[in-house]
Amino acid sequence: MSSNSVNKTAVIIGASRGLGLGLVQEYLKRGWRVIGTERANNPSSSLRNLLTSHSSQLRIEKIDINSTNEISMLKTNLKGESIDLLFVNAGVMDERTQNVGEASTEEFNRLMITNALSPMRVIETLADLVKIKGTIAVMSSGLGSVTANTTGTTELYRASKAALNMFLKSYAARAGAERTLLAMIPGWVKTDMGGPGAQLEVETSVRGMADAIETRNAQAGVFFVNYKNAIMPW
Ligand SMILES: NC(=O)c1ccc[n+]([C@@H]2O[C@H](COP(=O)([O-])OP(=O)(O)OC[C@H]3O[C@@H](n4cnc5c(N)ncnc54)[C@H](OP(=O)(O)O)[C@@H]3O)[C@@H](O)[C@H]2O)c1
Repeated sequence: MSSNSVNKTAVIIGASRGLGLGLVQEYLKRGWRVIGTERANNPSSSLRNLLTSHSSQLRIEKIDINSTNEISMLKTNLKGESIDLLFVNAGVMDERTQNVGEASTEEFNRLMITNALSPMRVIETLADLVKIKGTIAVMSSGLGSVTANTTGTTELYRASKAALNMFLKSYAARAGAERTLLAMIPGWVKTDMGGPGAQLEVETSVRGMADAIETRNAQAGVFFVNYKNAIMPW
């Protein structure tokens, strides 16, 4: 635990498993107070199990980010909090081989709403609880880079993360001010979404992202950055 991490608060949205759960564990390890969210009320979830060892450091809230009512309820529940890091991690993947011409309208809406619209609604609603020099991060993806897309595939997912990046840039231009705004690339990580053949362990990715966030926090502005703190092309 580093001395400057004491009394810091992170809110991790979408922390039931995978990278979100990993981020909660990483920030607990760093001595932060962590508010993690999950969308189900499951008394034996992996997140809830962390309460056994971290009851004074961890608080759990429930939110499905696609519900505007639940976003409002979360805002009410977090009243009085002074947040150092708001990280909206929740996201979904589409059928990787399906191109945009084959996608149903329902699938397009599911990806765009969950990966682009809802994360920004969470940010717009909770931003005034984030310290003026705090960090707001969204979980983007290397697949969200328009510049780096030379292969196609996972087309809805790519478009949803590119849209998320664009929304974050708009937010930065309009309301960024002194804050650090990050569109994070976690790498290709072994989670339910990334699959067992992915390159990185969750622990490696979240440790790198937390280090990148700590370094970038000194700088106001909006950055598309990977878990090694390297700037990526939008
Ligand atoms: N793994 C990778 O290689 C990789 C690479 C680039 C980017 N990413 C991004 O990293 C983030 C986390 O991915 P992951 O690999 O950890 O995936 P994951 O294991 O599938 O976990 C996804 C998380 O998002 C939550 N979630 C999904 N829809 C939600 C909703 N409507 N409301 C609230 N929570 C919701 C899930 O909650 P439930 O448990 O309730 O479903 C779960 O906690 C995603 O944004 C993903 O796009 C992952």
